[in-house]
Amino acid sequence: MRFSQRVVVVTGGAKGIGEGCSRVFAKEGGLVAILDRDIQAAEQTAQCLGENHVALPCDVSDEKQIASSIAAVIDRFGRIDCLINNAGIHPPDTPIDKMTPEEALGVLRVNFLSTYAMCYYALEHLKKTKGTIINVSSMTAVLGQRNSTAYAASKGAQLSFTKSLALECADYGIRVNAILPSNVDTPLMHKWASSLADPQAALQRIAALQPIGRMADVEEMGRVCLFLATEDSSFITGQGLHVDGGASLDY
Ligand SMILES: NC(=O)c1ccc[n+]([C@@H]2O[C@H](COP(=O)([O-])OP(=O)(O)OC[C@H]3O[C@@H](n4cnc5c(N)ncnc54)[C@H](O)[C@@H]3O)[C@@H](O)[C@H]2O)c1
Repeated sequence: MRFSQRVVVVTGGAKGIGEGCSRVFAKEGGLVAILDRDIQAAEQTAQCLGENHVALPCDVSDEKQIASSIAAVIDRFGRIDCLINNAGIHPPDTPIDKMTPEEALGVLRVNFLSTYAMCYYALEHLKKTKGTIINVSSMTAVLGQRNSTAYAASKGAQLSFTKSLALECADYGIRVNAILPSNVDTPLMHKWASSLADPQAALQRIAALQPIGRMADVEEMGRVCLFLATEDSSFITGQGLHVDGGASLDY
């Protein structure tokens, strides 16, 4: 029980990597607040975790919904020990001349501005617990990704934000880190693959990008987040941890 009676807020915690985080933290005794725009899926996931967890409807691209969700978490649990900024989208493969600046801004709003706003509203509560913040960025933040300029830029923004916020937050005893996954077997991954000419071949090619020969499963991401949320990582802050099965080694 490495997170007993402590409270974790997971954006996009209903499915994919967020669901993996929710499951791992709940197993370790944590109280999980799932913030997700898909409230049906969020309620289902919260129910599967057992008693004492909560699902809240929240579209993280809307600052007002973020503010009221944080208030609802405090009403319910009275504290926040860890914030995982995970909710994100990956648009279909699109070259820059086919994605307008307005559309790119939409990607940044969901993937990056939400991270900023969540931290903005949760900070006063994290100060009280000397908590942790974990931003789910991506390997594309440092390596780039063809036909995904807006996505990769939003993930790069999350990473540089992590480093700068870690400097500010060190004064409060709050640690801030990011994880940089390569390829994780999630609904998002399958949706993205289905936008390509041959989805099955794409999924096989993606699995082979990891020297260990497969994609990650979602709880592997959750376990890394748990590490970053506990004393086990007490001397780590401002880092972007590659959680990529070695995918970045042989580029
Ligand atoms: N899957 C991968 O291989 C991979 C790799 C690197 C980084 N990531 C990042 O991990 C994060 C999670 O990805 P995933 O693959 O688990 O995605 P997913 O689509 O499988 O699950 C995302 C969850 O976030 C929720 N969500 C989406 N937009 C939201 C919004 N505006 N407000 C609230 N909730 C919202 C969805 O309802 C869903 O529950 C994303 O930030 C993604 O960029 C994923």
